[in-house]
Amino acid sequence: METSNHSPFSLAGKTVLVTGASSGIGRATAIACSRMGARLVLTARDQDRLLDTFNQLATCGQDHVQLTADLTNSEQLEALVAALPHIEGAVLCAGNSTTLPLQFGSREKFDEMFDVNFFAPVELMRLMYKKKIFAKGASVVLLASIGGTHSFMPGNGVYGASKAALNAVMKYAAREYASRRVRVNSICPGMVDTPLIHRGTITEEQLAEDAKKYPLGRYGQPDDIAYGAVYLLSDAASWLTGHDLVIDGGFSI
Ligand SMILES: NC(=O)c1ccc[n+]([C@@H]2O[C@H](COP(=O)([O-])OP(=O)(O)OC[C@H]3O[C@@H](n4cnc5c(N)ncnc54)[C@H](OP(=O)(O)O)[C@@H]3O)[C@@H](O)[C@H]2O)c1
Repeated sequence: METSNHSPFSLAGKTVLVTGASSGIGRATAIACSRMGARLVLTARDQDRLLDTFNQLATCGQDHVQLTADLTNSEQLEALVAALPHIEGAVLCAGNSTTLPLQFGSREKFDEMFDVNFFAPVELMRLMYKKKIFAKGASVVLLASIGGTHSFMPGNGVYGASKAALNAVMKYAAREYASRRVRVNSICPGMVDTPLIHRGTITEEQLAEDAKKYPLGRYGQPDDIAYGAVYLLSDAASWLTGHDLVIDGGFSI
């Protein structure tokens, strides 16, 4: 039998928006998508770090785009949406975390976390759908977390609630957007070694100890998640919607 160069995992011919593209999972996802042939639209707040990602994209003659925006600012979010071309894929990675026992989880703390982890991606996805920016057959990938379903690390109730809410919206969006053949899925990573996990109150020793709880013997790397996003964006996943893809080294078994 002859082999063919066609790969159902290819992203050639697709324009893919990646939020949170200036760091961690978003950066790795943008680079991986470009290597699979996609044209990228990158966004985050920090122009220099965004440029750093932009400079690492595989070009393949593509005219990648970078647009800065604070997604918790509604004017900036609307300006971003107004600047977007038609897209075949979106990976909404922008987010933050906090380690905070619930006794300190004031309404203000919940609002802060929900603004960036829930309201920003939900509003972005809503406007993109309403303004018909998603091409027919487009794929949306939301970055949730096993923190939405498991108490994976002490003090993550506020964070976990924002990701659980995001996963709930994902399921409803998947059903509603199916009429335009737009697929919506999420990825629920376990702990992934990005700047995010080194910014909080957990010490490096505690992180090293925690990594031992993962059956595959380590925390994730950004590429472990990026490759899951490539799959969900690709035509290989064209009959998959409303699914939360757990990528966690076996932690939640
Ligand atoms: N790392 C983990 O263990 C882990 C596990 C499960 C889920 N996740 C989720 O995966 C996603 C990516 O996390 P990461 O680990 O890659 O974190 P990261 O390295 O800190 O990256 C976060 C990204 O979000 C952007 N961002 C933050 N606030 C923003 C805002 N208001 N407007 C626009 N962009 C904003 C940041 O860019 P600027 O600062 O340039 O704006 C940065 O590019 C997050 O949603 C996170 O909750 C991470």
